[in-house]
Amino acid sequence: VAKNGPVRVALMGAGVVGGGVARILTEKRAVYEQQLGRPLLLSHALVRDPSKPRAPYVADLITTDPDAILSDPDVDIVVEVIGGEEPALRYITQALKAGKHVVTANKEVMAKHSQHLLSLARDRGVDILYEASVGGGIPIIAPLKRDLLANEIESISAIINGTTNYILTAMSREGADFANALKQAQELGYAEANPANDVEGEDARFKLAILASLSFRCQVRPEDIYREGITRLSARDFRYASELGYAIKLLALAKQVEGGVQARVHPALLPQDAPLAKVDGVLNAVQVEADLTGLVLFSGPGAGSFPTTSAVIADVLDAAQSVIGGRREIHGETKRPTSIVPVGSWLTRFYIRLTVPDRPGVLAQITRVLGDAQISISSIIQKETDLDAKTAELVIMTHEAPEASMQSALEELDKLDVVQEIGNFIRVEG
Ligand SMILES: NC(=O)c1ccc[n+]([C@@H]2O[C@H](COP(=O)([O-])OP(=O)(O)OC[C@H]3O[C@@H](n4cnc5c(N)ncnc54)[C@H](OP(=O)(O)O)[C@@H]3O)[C@@H](O)[C@H]2O)c1
Repeated sequence: VAKNGPVRVALMGAGVVGGGVARILTEKRAVYEQQLGRPLLLSHALVRDPSKPRAPYVADLITTDPDAILSDPDVDIVVEVIGGEEPALRYITQALKAGKHVVTANKEVMAKHSQHLLSLARDRGVDILYEASVGGGIPIIAPLKRDLLANEIESISAIINGTTNYILTAMSREGADFANALKQAQELGYAEANPANDVEGEDARFKLAILASLSFRCQVRPEDIYREGITRLSARDFRYASELGYAIKLLALAKQVEGGVQARVHPALLPQDAPLAKVDGVLNAVQVEADLTGLVLFSGPGAGSFPTTSAVIADVLDAAQSVIGGRREIHGETKRPTSIVPVGSWLTRFYIRLTVPDRPGVLAQITRVLGDAQISISSIIQKETDLDAKTAELVIMTHEAPEASMQSALEELDKLDVVQEIGNFIRVEG
């Protein structure tokens, strides 16, 4: 139903992102009014702690009562920037049921509940928009929903967690170990006091679930995505990878293969000249491979108040168009059946680092185990030798092999007397 007068926007959350949204909506009020032909009016700012000092843009709008927003028929658009699953999910659901458009930056809610929320929105004739949930200021949701719609998307490869990319970049450039690089990231405010969600790959998994569902138009849930974090990477792996011409990144990868969708988040060796290998520090990038466009790369700041505000306000302006009675959003619903390919059937190359005794006959035993598992070796390099311990380190690069074969070969290697330690194994992509 078309509406006259200002379009009213309520904020749920007024922290890093909500504060930025309030500030920019205030400072650029005239520009946005010109674009829309109507004023955009901020009506409420829901927070948890009313005693905190607030910027002037929101100070007069503060409330701690969600119903002040959800039951106010004059609120047209709810911007959810609280974060976390609850109470955000409950508020979003209630807002949609009340016929309000919703803009959210919440990756967890969208990764777990987009199917339900998108269909609820459609039933109520409103939009739920979530550009800011992946990649902060990088436009990626709208391109997948709209601009790439004529394509069949074949794969998404992404660096979508700034914290881990910062840590890995420091490990690679400074030869730092994981603990020191994490400490440095925490001191600079790039990692949280409790970094588990980032370093264990959970945050990247939420974002990949959103991107994969949209790209392949089927529902890919976070639990469908294999996940490995970055905590077992060592400075040595970076040194050896670099000598071999590779960078190490926390890669979020989803692709269509025979039999369905393969989706995984894990550290990977990428050739140094691959576009994603050059994405350093807190930057994010998403590489899309599609049948008509070929490779397209989106990159930029994956977080931060203003970049994220940019994505949120673009969605607010879109929703405001719908409020005014203009065009409707393309929802990006997930209508195809989902088939997730089992982990064991993935085909990848591997980097394996082993500690072995420095004496003859060792290599023969190791190559036999790999040969028995039908894994062919592309190179073996003997690295550092520890003269006192009489041990050496071997770095083995393999050709493509099924994951299941590699896992059983690793078990067999572990049983060999001549393998003192499997230092690490990392998949190689690209
Ligand atoms: N920060 C980024 O760079 C970035 C980038 C992309 C996406 N996001 C997403 O944006 C969302 C918000 O992130 P943020 O960094 O802005 O978080 P934040 O700075 O912690 O702000 C959260 C806001 O929500 C309020 N809040 C928390 N729990 C609440 C509750 N139970 N009821 C009512 N209000 C509550 C807080 O109130 P008080 O002010 O009273 O504490 C605060 O205003 C998250 O989903 C996040 O993942 C953030």
